[in-house]
Order: sequence, then structure tokens, then C-alpha cells
Amino acid sequence: MTEESATPAATSAEERSYDEYRVVQDLGGWKRSHTCNQLTSANIGQEVTLMGWVQFRRDHGGLIFIDLRDREGLTQTVFSPEDAPEAHERAHAIRIEYVVALRGIVRHRPEGMTNPGMPTGEVEVYVKEWKLLNTSETPPFPIEDRVETSEMLRLKYRYLDLRRPRLAKNFILRNKAAQSVRRYLDGLGFLEIETPVLTKSTPEGARDFLVPSRLNLGTFYALPQSPQLFKQLLMVAGLDRYFQIVKCFRDEDLRADRQPEFTQIDIEMSFPDEEQIMDMAEGLVRTLFKETIGLALPEAFPRMTYKKAMDEYGVDKPDVRFDLKLADVKDIFAGGGFKVFASAPCLKAVRMPGGGVLSRKEIDEYTEFVKIYGAQGLAWIKVKEDGEWQSPIVKFFSDDEKAKLAERLGMTAGDIVFFQAAPEDVANAALGNLRLKLGERFGLIDEKAFAPIWVTDFPLLEYDPEDKRWVAKHHPFTSPQPGQMDSIATNPGGALARAYDLVLNGNEIGGGSIRIHTPAAQKAMFKALGISDEEAEEKFGFLIEALKFGAPPHGGIAFGLDRIVMLLTGSKSIRDVIAFPKTQKATCLMTDAPNTVSKKQLRELGIQLREKAADAGDKKVEG
Ligand code: AMO
Ligand code: AMP
Repeated sequence: MTEESATPAATSAEERSYDEYRVVQDLGGWKRSHTCNQLTSANIGQEVTLMGWVQFRRDHGGLIFIDLRDREGLTQTVFSPEDAPEAHERAHAIRIEYVVALRGIVRHRPEGMTNPGMPTGEVEVYVKEWKLLNTSETPPFPIEDRVETSEMLRLKYRYLDLRRPRLAKNFILRNKAAQSVRRYLDGLGFLEIETPVLTKSTPEGARDFLVPSRLNLGTFYALPQSPQLFKQLLMVAGLDRYFQIVKCFRDEDLRADRQPEFTQIDIEMSFPDEEQIMDMAEGLVRTLFKETIGLALPEAFPRMTYKKAMDEYGVDKPDVRFDLKLADVKDIFAGGGFKVFASAPCLKAVRMPGGGVLSRKEIDEYTEFVKIYGAQGLAWIKVKEDGEWQSPIVKFFSDDEKAKLAERLGMTAGDIVFFQAAPEDVANAALGNLRLKLGERFGLIDEKAFAPIWVTDFPLLEYDPEDKRWVAKHHPFTSPQPGQMDSIATNPGGALARAYDLVLNGNEIGGGSIRIHTPAAQKAMFKALGISDEEAEEKFGFLIEALKFGAPPHGGIAFGLDRIVMLLTGSKSIRDVIAFPKTQKATCLMTDAPNTVSKKQLRELGIQLREKAADAGDKKVEG
């Protein structure tokens, strides 16, 4: 190391605050003095230097106005033929999205021209001189928040889309969220530790992404669906408290709240019980909300059992911002005259007060909607103002059934009641999701409210009718509740898990559990899942081995960072909070990933494609 570099300069980066640091860019003698959100009437008369992109250019024959944009905001600048003829003359060539540096004097905007809606709305910069830093082709869509362009085009030019203030803000907030999490967990003694990305499959219920190994032909790494096993092994290692903000990979069907690669705030600790983990997790979420959007969440989050969530909300991630509950009415119609209801394995209803205003068309749309969840139909009753019931099905009801139904649901004039007769899972999914539609339709949801709730007491296992076997509801490393280990072999459906999910406004934002920490219990669990000893040994031998060497009781949780930031920013999709997201078909329109590879690469990996794929490969990438 030279002597100079060992002596820090008085204005070295580490001594500066962000406010000082963001304006030191020094480009060939042009030194940025402010960012584009900073100038106010306090700066009037000062000479300033700004750098950024041209948002707008208005040529008024005389004056030329340019709105300059950077990450932080917009500033109006003016080129005047009288004040700076040379700068003005050259400014005719400026086009939108050109990158420029400009130097000028801050002035008050003329009477009536101020814009209280923007931080720099009182001032404008009279340009004395400017420098073109780069030109730009005309962008394929306007760089504005109100842009109405197909998402396909925006994803192809994602770097332009990200220049839009609304998106840029999402990433500024996402960074704040991540830093807040780091500070909070570091403060509690959690160590940030990285775990492998080229690894072995960890089951979280999705398909794995596989990576072929060149050095071990015929074998594959799996990208982690989560760092589950590694974080448990770090507890066996005695590291006590771990966290990581980490990419996870799941090859599953995508939705607005799912991406094939997404980010978890992954946490594990030794010697905890559920209470301690939930307490730490609530603190994390409260701190995060406070430090990013200044919102105070409740001191203690409410809790609900899985059973209650399913019974009353039809889903395991209840949106408790509004109070519209499902009711079980099967007993009322058992053995009655309406066969659809009498013979149903499950019959549930939801009463929408004031829902009588729904049109036939809307009811038909809801009937179509519930078919997504496997429903065969959607029965309904409207209570007219005179108290009479209007419905295609009441003619099949006895007076006794009507009386009991009216009482159970509290039916009053103006209501509509929807019914679902189906297997329990279909009835719940159909009405649970219809409930959300009704909540939106009737304005029951306070869009500004945040209603966190824990869902607890999940079943340990659930039956997979396709595979005809029991599978873990969370993952196979989750501990059953005390005293239930012995019964999982004989009554797999009856055991409850030491698992908890955190739900926010109907979104699952986190989930975790207390883990199994003895080899015997882990083996029993694999057995209940129909995993043979050999398969368990082959897939998870290293875990069972590790549990033999003094594994401490441990447990943890993982949050979906993308989903949390989506909610914090009020975004409709997690694609809006991921810098370079994938499409519904898991492709990247900007880079064209995934793409075919050369025959040489395939040969090295010992891979031969079936004919069709091989043809495609030859055409696209050979050479
Ligand atoms: P789980 O599978 O519940 O638990 O995942 C934790 C959280 O990650 C988020 N998430 C996703 N976000 C975006 N796209 C996806 N495809 C996606 N999948 C999941 C959700 C979810 O709550 N190893 C366990 C955690 C543990 O037991 O500690 C796990 O991964 O917000
Ligand atoms: P159907 O006798 O099949 O014409 O049905 C009479 C009414 O019951 C219609 O309004 C259907 O939409 C409704 N319906 C049919 N099957 C179901 C079901 N499984 N659950 C709820 N309503 C149903």
C-alpha cells in the first residue's frame, strides 16, 4: 500500500452523509451540486450544477424549457436566448432521454407558474452552460408514471421502465426495507450467513430447477427452494442465530404474487419456542413498517387457528380487513328435498348484506368465477324489500329449512346469500375467494389498512389425492405438536404442526415452524410420508447424520421480501418490486432467458436433447 492511499483524504466517501455524497459526481470538471429533487426557494440566486435525463422539452420559440430527471426527482430548467445565447442555440438539439449536465442560476418561477405538487415546484434553473453527456434514441414508450404500454414492452426495455418515478421509488423503499431488517436482526445477535446456491433438493412443495454438473457427468445440482436444511445445520453447528436475505428458486406456476426466483428473509434460532419466534418476527415486521412507511402496526398481532380460518374465511390466509364470514349450513338441509344440498359432502353459505342489488349478469360472472375453484354451480337467494325470497332454488326448501336458514344467517331485507354444495376444499375455496370479490365489489376493504394475523395449528400432513399419499403441509422437517409424534403413523390426518404463517391483508408474507431435532423423530416423519429408509438416506442422510451429533432444539421462519415490499408500496404485482422479473411463462423478455445452448456445451455436460429441442438449439445458438 502506498503512503497516499493509507492516509484518507479529508472528504473521503466514508466520512460523508448521503446528502453530501450524492452530489460529488465530478465529471471532467463538471461537479454535480444537487440532485433533481433538492432545489427550493432557499436556493434562489445560487449557481448549481445538475446531471440527469431529459424528461420533457418545450420549445416556445423564445425560451426552451427542459425538465431534468434523476432518481430523486425533477427540476425545471430554462434556456433563454438573451441570458445565454450560445447555450440556448445548442439546446435546440436536445431530445427526450438525452443525458446532460447543466450549470445555471436558481430563480423563482414567475407568478402563477409554481407547482406546489412537486418539491422543486417553486423554482427553475436558468441555464448558463450545458454539456451533452450522451444522446438517446426515442424510447419505445414515454417514461412517465401514467404510461399505458403493454407490460411485454416494458419488460423488454426494463431499464427504461425502471426510470419511471413510481418504479424507482419501489426500489428505494425496497432497499430501506432490507437495511431495516439487517439492522433489526443484527441488533438481536442474528448472524448473516450465506448458504450454497448449487445444492441438493430441499422440498418446499415445488419443482426444482436443476443445474447439470460438468465435472460429475449425469448428476445435477438443484437450486434451493429455500435454505431450509442449511439453516438447520447452522443450528447444529452451534451458531445459535442465523439470518439471510436470500434468493430462492421454485419451478411452479406463476401468479401475481409468485416468481420463479424470489427473495426470502430467512431466519433460524436455537432453543426457542413458538412464542419467542413469533415475538421476534412481529418486532421485525413492526420495525420494517415503521422505518419504511412510518406506519405503526399493532403491539401484538392477533392469532387464528387454521381450522377457524378455513371454517370462517375458506382460506388459510384470511383477509381480516373486513368481516364477512362463511357459515356451515349442511345440517339444515340434510335429508331434505333439494338433492344438490341434501347429498353434498359440505354445504356452506355466505350472506352479503345489501347484496340484493347485484344484477343477474354479476351473479352469472360470480358463477363463472367460482368454477376456477372446481365449483359446479352457485346457488343464491335474494331477500327482497318485502321480505320475500327471490331464488331459483327456494321452491325446493321446506318451511322449517327456510326458518332455520334465516335464523342461522340472520337474513334481512336487501341481502343476498350464496351457497356452495361441494367437497369441503372446493366449497371453501369457491366461497373464500368469492368473499374477496364481494369485499371489493361492496367497498368493504379499507385499502389503506394493514391487518396482520398469525395463522396457527396447521395440520402436520395433508392427503394428496393425485399421488395417493400423505405429504407435509409445510415441509417434512416441521415438528408435530407435543404428544402427537406417536400417532402420525396411525392417524396421519389428525396431527397438528408446530407451524405458524404470518398473513397480511390476505397475503401469506411469512411462514415457519419449530423443527424436528432428533434422528428418530425425523425418521418417523419420513416414514409417515411414505419415504422409504433408502430414499430418506439417499436424499436426507446428511441431515439425519447431523441430528445425531447434538442438534439443539431449533426453529425459525422465512418472510417473502418481495410480497412485503409489494404491500408496502401498494403494488398490484411482485413484478413491480423486482428489478428484473420474469413473465408468467418464466422468461426474461430483456435477455431472452432461458435460451438454447451450443452442442459443444451440451456435449461437455453429457446431455443429448430429444430431437425437437435439439433442432431448436441448432437454429438459435450454434457457433
Ligand atoms: P415458505 O415456503 O412458506 O417457507 O416460504 C416463505 C415465504 O416466502 C414467500 N414465497 C414466495 N414469494 C414469491 N414467490 C414465490 N414463488 C414464493 N414462494 C414463497 C412467501 C412465504 O410465506 N423454509 C420455509 C420457511 C421456514 O420453515 O422457516 C419456507 O420456505 O411469502
Ligand atoms: P340445477 O338444479 O343444477 O339447475 O341447479 C339449481 C341451482 O343450484 C342453480 O342456481 C345452480 O347454479 C345451483 N347449483 C348447482 N350445483 C350447485 C352446487 N354444487 N353448489 C351450489 N349451487 C349449485
